[in-house]
Amino acid sequence: GLPEYVKIVEVGPRDGLQNEKVIVPTDIKIEFINRLSQTGLSVIEVTSFVSSKWVPQMADHTEVMKGINQYPGVRYPVLTPNLQGFHRAVAAGATEISVFGAASESFSKKNINCSIEESMGKFEEVVKSARHMNIPIRGYVSCALGCPYEGSITPQKVTEVSKRLYGMGCYEVSLGDTIGVGTPGSMKRMLESVMKEIPPGALAVHCHDTYGQALANILTALQMGINVVDSAVSGLGGCPYAKGASGNVATEDLIYMLNGLGLNTGVDLYKVMEAGDFICKAVHKNTNSKVAQASFSA
Ligand code: HMG
Ligand code: MG
Repeated sequence: GLPEYVKIVEVGPRDGLQNEKVIVPTDIKIEFINRLSQTGLSVIEVTSFVSSKWVPQMADHTEVMKGINQYPGVRYPVLTPNLQGFHRAVAAGATEISVFGAASESFSKKNINCSIEESMGKFEEVVKSARHMNIPIRGYVSCALGCPYEGSITPQKVTEVSKRLYGMGCYEVSLGDTIGVGTPGSMKRMLESVMKEIPPGALAVHCHDTYGQALANILTALQMGINVVDSAVSGLGGCPYAKGASGNVATEDLIYMLNGLGLNTGVDLYKVMEAGDFICKAVHKNTNSKVAQASFSA
C-alpha cells in the first residue's frame, strides 16, 4: 500500500538554479529559499560547496547559506563532494550535508573528476568528519536509471554503489534519474534490486522529467514503499554534466498528485506555487509545472 506521509525534499535552489544560464543574484536566491521555508516544506537543499570553476552558479554558496533565515522545523542540507567542500559548508553554518556519487564510471569522471572508487574514498573522509560533528549525511546515486554517456546502467551497479553509501553511514540514499530516461518498468526493476540491500525507509527517489515519466516513476516508487521524494519548484533545473537533461519533477505537480491520493505532505500547494512564480519571474522563464500553468491561466 501507499505510505500515509510523504517527505518532500525541495532541491530547486540547488539542482534547479545550478543549471540556469543566467547567474541568479544572491539576494534573489535568499528570498526564494526564505519563501520556500514558509510553505511547510521540511527539507530544502540550499546550495552546493563545489568548485566555482565547475559550477559558477553555485559560487555564492557561503553567502546564500549565511544569508537565509533558518526556520524551525526546516532542514537545510548542502552538497559537498570532498573534504574541502565539507569544511567550507560547516564554516558557512551547514548542519546537514549530502555526498553525491554515481552508478556510472563515465558520469563520475565528468561530474566530479574521479572514478567511482576514488569518489567513495573522498566520501568516506567526509562522512568520518561529519559523524564526529553529528552532522547527518545523505548520499546521492546519479544515473540510477541511465547515463548520458553509457546508456543503460544495471540495477546491480546501482545497488552496489547505494550499498557503499548506506554502509559508510548515509542515513538516506537518493536514487537519481539524472537524465529522466526511466520508466515505471525500469524504476521497479532498479528498486527491487536496491531494496534487497537497503530498507525502503532509507531510500528516496530523485526524478528528472525529460521524457515525461517522472510522476509515473514516483508513483511506482511510492507503491513499493518509498516515502521520500525529491522535487524542484517549477520543475527548475537539470544537471550541468548531463546535456539535454531537463528539470526535476515540479514540486507543485508532485503535491497535486499526493493530495489527490490523500497522502499527507504538510506542504501548502498554493504557497509553493507563489514561490515558483517568484523564481520564474526572477529568472525570466515560464514555469515547467503543469499545475502552476493550469492554475495561473485559470
Ligand atoms: P578537481 O579539479 O578534480 O579538484 O574537481 P581538485 O581536488 O583536483 O582541486 C582542483 C581545484 O579545485 C583546486 O583549486 C581546489 O582548491 C578546488 P585551484 O588550486 O585550482 O585554485 N576545489 C574546490 N573548490 C571549491 N569547493 C570544493 C573544491 N574541491 C576542490 N569542494 C570537484 C573536483 C569535485 C571539486 C569538481 O569536479 C566539482 O566541483 N564538480 C562539481 C560537480 C557538480 O556540482 N555537479 C552538479 C551536482 S550533481 C547533480 O546535479 C546530480 C544530482 O542532482 C542527482 C541526480 O540528478 O542524479 C545530485
Ligand atoms: Mg538532479
